[in-house]
Parts: sequence; C-alpha cells; structure tokens
Amino acid sequence: MTRTFDEETRARLEVDAKEIIARYPKARSALLPLLHLVQAEEGHVSTAGIGFCADQLGLTAAEVTAVATFYTMYKRRPVGDYHVGVCTNTLCAVMGGDEIFSALKEHLGVGNDETTEDGKVTLEHVECNAACDFAPVVMVNWEFFDNQTPDSAKELVDGLRLGRDVRPTRGPGSVCTWKEASRVLAGFSDGRADEGPQAAGPSLEGLRLARERGWTAPAPGDAGAGEEAGQ
Ligand code: FES
Repeated sequence: MTRTFDEETRARLEVDAKEIIARYPKARSALLPLLHLVQAEEGHVSTAGIGFCADQLGLTAAEVTAVATFYTMYKRRPVGDYHVGVCTNTLCAVMGGDEIFSALKEHLGVGNDETTEDGKVTLEHVECNAACDFAPVVMVNWEFFDNQTPDSAKELVDGLRLGRDVRPTRGPGSVCTWKEASRVLAGFSDGRADEGPQAAGPSLEGLRLARERGWTAPAPGDAGAGEEAGQ
C-alpha cells in the first residue's frame, strides 16, 4: 500500500490544494473538497490521500480518516470508471429499486460495493437522492437515471461497459468517469453544470397546481400562516 504520493503527483496536487484552501477563511474548512481532489487522483481516498489532506490542512491522519469514513461519497476502496448507485430507500424500494438492485447484482456478477472484473462498474445501493418523484432512480457517477426498471438498468450498465454514449435523464448530455466527477466535486468545473434538462415533470407539479389555483406563499412573519398550512 502506497503511503505517500510520488513527488510529481504531490507537486501537482499541491497546486490544486492551494487553490481550494484559498476559498475558505480557515484551512480545515477545505477538507471535504480536498478529499474529493485526492479521490479524483486515485478513484478512492487512499492512505496516501489521507496523509496528503492532513499535511495540507494541519490535521492529523485520524481526523481526516474520521471524516472520510463518515461520508459515503468518499470511498476507501478503488471504484470503477462508473459508480452505479441504485436507490433502495423506502420509496424507490417499493417502486422497484430492490428488484433493480438484485437484477444488477446477478447481471454484473458482483455484490454491494464491488467492482466488475473489467474495472468498469462499481455497484452500490444508495440512500435517497432526493429524486423520489422519479422513483425508482439509479445514479451513475451522481447523474440521474429516472424511472428505471430491471431491464433498463441492465441496458444502462451494458452501455457503460461497452463505452456507448450513455445519457442521463437530467443534467449533462453524457456521463463522465468517476474520477472526473470527483474532480468537479472538488470544485474544478468541467463547464457542463448548466447542460441538459434540470427540474422537470413531477418535480414541477406542485408549482403548476399552485399557479393554476392562485396559491401564493405566506408573507414572512404572517401569523397563522403555519396553521393554515397544517404545520
Ligand atoms: S427514495 Fe429513492 S430518491 Fe428518494
């Protein structure tokens, strides 16, 4: 296990780290994007990555490890080119998420948090991604694939493994790799944040009804507004 980055990698990452740290009044506040930065380098947060973050921020390796192991977006084991997250939280589960997850496990021949032999796909069941109105949802490197079925999910992972042009339902026009997505999360834009459709369909249904019926939000401090809304 590599405990430190080689000199070239370290020098390159230090330039990026400086830029990230400069965005915050206190260096330690930069820990989350810095963890994404090292994840973008190796596909996971390695021992070398933890040491790098600790050195840059004046923290101990134990402090960095505590954060890296708390948040599930940071992976301590290598992830494939495509992280496929199947939502199995309550709504997606009852709408078919559990069946999708079982079908993908069998189809890919991997268990939860495991990667296919070709290194392309890491399968994981994930918690609610706030897209319940499009349940059941599958995410690839955090891009949404809405209203999935076991068959459409199998077709999706096959396309990823074959290098086909796979397009998310919302967001950018194509899916980038896990490392590229991690770099964006570190705060280095790939210039595609505004690509593709964003809120749509069922997400806007409440707004449509409110407009149709002339409902407006209560004014701040309006006494009784909470009771009317049943709060
Ligand atoms: S339960 Fe799956 S996105 Fe909310």
